This record gives sequence, C-alpha cells and structure tokens, in this order.
Amino acid sequence: MMELAIDDKIFESFIDYELIEKRIRVLAIQINVDYENKTPMIIGVLNGSFIFMADLMKALEISCEVAFLKVSSYQDMQSTGKIKEEYVLNTNIENRDIILIEDIIDTGNTLDYLINKLKTKNPASIKVASLLLKPDALQKEIDEIAYVGFEIANDFVVGYGLDYNGLGRNTKNIYRLKT
Ligand code: IMP
Ligand code: MG
Repeated sequence: MMELAIDDKIFESFIDYELIEKRIRVLAIQINVDYENKTPMIIGVLNGSFIFMADLMKALEISCEVAFLKVSSYQDMQSTGKIKEEYVLNTNIENRDIILIEDIIDTGNTLDYLINKLKTKNPASIKVASLLLKPDALQKEIDEIAYVGFEIANDFVVGYGLDYNGLGRNTKNIYRLKT
C-alpha cells in the first residue's frame, strides 16, 4: 500500500516494516547488553506504543516484566500541552529499573511529565525507548532518552501503532502526511 487515506487526509509510505524490524533488532541487542543480569520493568505508554513494544519485547532475551499506563495530550494533529492521565500505573516500581516505551517523542512534554511522576515512586533507574523522535520539535532536555528507533522531521506520521484521531494504527508500515 503506497498511500493511506484517513478522513480528509492522505498519507504516503514513509518507513517500511522491514526497516523497522531491523532497527528494533539493534535496539534489542543494546537493551540485552545494558540490562544483562537485571530484570527491568518495561512500561508501555498506551495507546501508541503497543505494536512497537510487542515487537521489541519479542527481540529481548533478558528477564523482564511489563506494565502499562495511559496518557493523552494530542487532539487532531497538535499537542494540546495538557496531559490527561487516563489510566494510572498501579504497580510498585520502588528500586526497579524502568524502561518506558513510547511510540514517538514530539515536544517531549508527555515524557517529561511521566518521568517526573515516576521518579516520585523511587525507581532504581529510568530509561526511555521510543520508536520515533522529532528532534526539531523537542522542547525539553530529557537525559533518560536512551534508545531511539528513528529521528524524523516535524511531519505528522501514522501507522504501526500511531494514530490520526484514533485511526490508522493498524498498518505494518509507517506513513507520513502528504503535503
Ligand atoms: P509530546 O508530549 O509532544 O512529546 O507528544 C507525545 C505524544 O503525542 C506521542 O506519544 C503521540 O501519542 C503523539 N504524537 C506526537 N507526534 C505524533 C505524530 O506525528 N503522529 C501521531 N501521534 C503523534
Ligand atoms: Mg503516545
């Protein structure tokens, strides 16, 4: 599929699944090395991260646990800046090594908020793995960002878990808004 139509928008093919898969294998090797002899708690930030998280976890060989939380800040194609917690973490993370899984880091506001919140629960460490990062959109300095699949320009993307108004998550490839 070369193009994808959602509502009134047309998206074009951007990152193929073959490339995503290869990149995830490299990230997983790094995590396997960094967390050897540890049992991290891998926390998925719903909804967008679920497909990336599943593929990444299948490539991990370390012992690990999973948990989820859910926040939202996006409406249409714009971050609202206000973060809404839809689903809070109800797992004890004290003294645990946390790997937070994101689909995409845009302004970084969501991540900054989440990291500060998780830190109050005294984990041993927090690192972030994100499939995508928009460096030109980033407004915060976040030292915890450790594993990034692809750095991309400030374009709106969908697919492979990412949505436009709730739609378009169920594609293998990642698509970008056609201008
Ligand atoms: P931030 O707080 O601005 O970093 O926004 C992070 C969240 O916004 C991500 O977890 C996504 O859910 C959403 N988001 C940001 N950019 C995109 C995009 O290009 N496509 C789909 N969702 C996006
Ligand atoms: Mg998200």
